Amino acid sequence: MFDESLLKDKVILITGGGTGLGRAMGEKFLTLGAKLAITSRREEVLVKAAAEMGHDGKEVFYHSCDVRDAQQVADMVAAVEDHYGRIDVLINNAAGNFASPTENLSPRAVDAVLNIVLHGTFYTTLEVGKRWIEQGRGGTMLNIVTSYASTGSGFVVPSAAAKAGVLALTRSLAVEWARYGIRQVAIAPGLFPTDGAWSRLAPTPELSEKLLNRVPLGRVGEKDELANLAAYLISDFAAYINGEVITIDGGEWLQGAGQFNDLLEVTDEQWVTLAEMTRKGKS
Ligand code: HXC
Ligand code: NAP
Repeated sequence: MFDESLLKDKVILITGGGTGLGRAMGEKFLTLGAKLAITSRREEVLVKAAAEMGHDGKEVFYHSCDVRDAQQVADMVAAVEDHYGRIDVLINNAAGNFASPTENLSPRAVDAVLNIVLHGTFYTTLEVGKRWIEQGRGGTMLNIVTSYASTGSGFVVPSAAAKAGVLALTRSLAVEWARYGIRQVAIAPGLFPTDGAWSRLAPTPELSEKLLNRVPLGRVGEKDELANLAAYLISDFAAYINGEVITIDGGEWLQGAGQFNDLLEVTDEQWVTLAEMTRKGKS
């Protein structure tokens, strides 16, 4: 579907770019001509990812950084600019999450997630945005949220609250920073089994199965499907999309939302009986 030069020479910075969905997006962008910068806390993960991704003339720069620390973010962004001379696209993908009854959370547990997801995203957005404004150059910011950023969800409440904040950030800056040529978009993924997410949210086969049963399309997402959407959204073909969040979840959140969707469990035989009962309201 994509021309190999779709993202030619675009410098793309991905937080959390060494693992999971961040890495999948990076690999896709490289095949489309981009120059990549990846960041996260664990340098050894970045070293390995950069070595594995950066072959056949593909350029991958890494710089470790904890996005919870604004000074580390400033140093990381400066290092990427020093290396490539500029940044064209920022992907806020780094996140922290785990499933827990909310009443069991300590204040430190709440902070652990809010500081990565909301504060971290804000710090990188601010650092890169200020530079773009000062340099008089536009750019695109893509924030990876979740489908429950809009609906909320029990048992992942710090994540839900933080991602809702990121969505508000996306929509707010879409208006405020459009005058600087800065475009904001977001992706709300449904279920994409990655080691990072599944080890913290669906560590047993039963939990994994429970999640899968929520998806009308009957399967989880493939990383490449998300990477394709991301590639389109940051490309010049999406230049008029600003402030939108695109859900990619196989219809999952809608299945939970529709009042009568549990009737999917009714068998053909039961429908015959039900039709007799419900025709003209006969009881
Ligand atoms: C209750 C927990 C906990 C758990 C940690 N804590 N895990 N509390 N249940 N499962 C508490 C700790 O006890 C501690 O509080 C506090 O949280 C901080 O824990 P640390 O381990 O010191 O934190 P830190 O090293 O900063 O690690 C952050 C983290 C960790 C978020 C806890 O999981 C992490 O590094 N995650 C990064 C990767 C990630 O989460 N990927 C998944 C993204 S998936 P006390 O008070 O005891 O000191 C996603 C959307 C998925 O976001 C949607 C899928 C469908
Ligand atoms: P993942 O592999 O665990 O990705 C999280 C990344 O964030 C890791 O690379 C991690 O690297 C980095 N990170 C965490 N804390 C950081 C910090 N303080 N500073 C810098 N980097 C940090 O999980 P994933 O599934 O690919 O998740 C990627 C994104 O997709 C997240 O935004 C997540 O919320 C979103 N999402 C995923 C799913 C899904 O089904 N997988 C669904 C909805 C939304 P380090 O540990 O090295 O720092």
